[in-house]
Amino acid sequence: MFYLPNGRIHPLPQEDTRMNICVIGTGYVGLVGAAIFSDWGNTVKGVDIDERKIETINSGEMPIFEPGLSEIVLRNIEKGRLVFTTSLVEGMRDAEVVFICVGTPQSDTGSADLSAVWAVAREIGQNLTDYKVIVTKSTVPVGTNEKIKKLIKENLKGSAEFDVASNPEFLREGSSVEDMQNTDRTVIGSDSKKALDVLSKLYEHLNSPVVETDLRSAEMIKYASNAFLATKISFINEMAQLCERGRADVAAVSYGMGLDKRIGKYFLNAGIGYGGSCFPKDVAALYRTSTDQAYDFKLLRGVMEVNKLQKKYFLKKITKMFGENLSGLTLACLGMAFKGDTDDIRESVSIEVIRDLRGMGAKIRAYDPEATANAKKVLGDANIVYCHDKYEAIEGSDAVLILTEWKEFANLDPERVKPLVKQKVIFDGRNLLDKEKVQDYGFVYFAVGKRTNGLDKVDEPSESTVPSALLKNGQDS
Ligand SMILES: NC(=O)c1ccc[n+]([C@@H]2O[C@H](COP(=O)([O-])OP(=O)(O)OC[C@H]3O[C@@H](n4cnc5c(N)ncnc54)[C@H](O)[C@@H]3O)[C@@H](O)[C@H]2O)c1
Repeated sequence: MFYLPNGRIHPLPQEDTRMNICVIGTGYVGLVGAAIFSDWGNTVKGVDIDERKIETINSGEMPIFEPGLSEIVLRNIEKGRLVFTTSLVEGMRDAEVVFICVGTPQSDTGSADLSAVWAVAREIGQNLTDYKVIVTKSTVPVGTNEKIKKLIKENLKGSAEFDVASNPEFLREGSSVEDMQNTDRTVIGSDSKKALDVLSKLYEHLNSPVVETDLRSAEMIKYASNAFLATKISFINEMAQLCERGRADVAAVSYGMGLDKRIGKYFLNAGIGYGGSCFPKDVAALYRTSTDQAYDFKLLRGVMEVNKLQKKYFLKKITKMFGENLSGLTLACLGMAFKGDTDDIRESVSIEVIRDLRGMGAKIRAYDPEATANAKKVLGDANIVYCHDKYEAIEGSDAVLILTEWKEFANLDPERVKPLVKQKVIFDGRNLLDKEKVQDYGFVYFAVGKRTNGLDKVDEPSESTVPSALLKNGQDS
């Protein structure tokens, strides 16, 4: 039996289903994947071109913060079934399955930058000596796996055979160790029965459906899923705008909606917008795919637009309170990671907000439980003091801003905050605090999608435009 961190139990795969696996790219997806596959009893080699990353892992340190990961990696290194190398040739030797887990960031045109995927495909082709199943876990646009197949073929030095499969990953940073083993579904796409069988065997002990499909549909399932989740977030953020104006509470609205099984409660929290290494780039890439196919995916345009506006709307609350010129003000910024339980700051809205505030002249006192080192690399030291504790960040500041939904920020004690902060103002960008309690302590409180004493103070005006689609016969009045 294998014990998950939350106590759920899955049977381990039977002895005869264990295989030799190579995982290329040991980032958030590849490192967790390599660790979990080896914990299932497989022999795994993790490969990365980043020498420092491989050195770090081999020295027993984790290059990323991910709850539960370190124990699993160290346990399997010790058992001799998990090794890490910078050599792809070494990594692929004896492997029956090769996973591609390299990054696919957003390019300048909005499409996915697939240069790392192409580089790996070429290298796989050049070094393929016997039959392997090549599996793409990286998120790649529809049609990419067919091109991977072509590239590998073009680079073959001998006559080795191979099959290509798509096996998109659905883990969430912060809970990836559990997500990979307790997934809602496993998606496998291939035109090869042999490849589908090999991958089904790898995952067959998991307690969830396996979706076997073609390459293109598997690729599309990943983008459709992320785009839909981003749509839920933008939807509730627009509802938040209406709730502020209509004196309703978006948290109550979201709770009431989420109890409906057809809707579900997840990804329905209003805030300052989605960020991270997946949603922004995946929504943009799917939109790019649509325009490449001469189709305008109108809904996705709206999702992206709303997401941008949500951050601006939050900043507007601050400038309405303090004016456009923030020089002379010190702001305590709680949270720099793109979400709680991770050290990842890629496309973090919190980082963007801090940059914007600093640009308007504010001095920043910042704190994040895990992301400070990463944030420091992109924000530098100008007009920003990195603190070791939330109360240290608040001490001597003019106002408190909650930017990332770390659980520890929900426990912020207004009684402790009161003597530390110069002006009693809180901007809660993640709706973590109890509105009544904070206001009872005499704070001016701003949240997202709730009428608070803060909004009443600045008398937020409504902005409204009537689109022609609403008018009878679509005509302007
Ligand atoms: N991070 C997530 O939460 C998440 C979830 C699901 C899917 N994905 C997708 O998985 C893929 C990987 O994401 P990530 O967050 O793990 O990225 P990452 O940037 O954390 O890791 C990518 C790794 O690939 C390595 N790499 C790049 N080129 C290489 C090469 N030629 N050979 C060997 N290694 C190479 C990099 O050094 C890096 O360590 C992306 O397509 C992403 O969209 C990510």
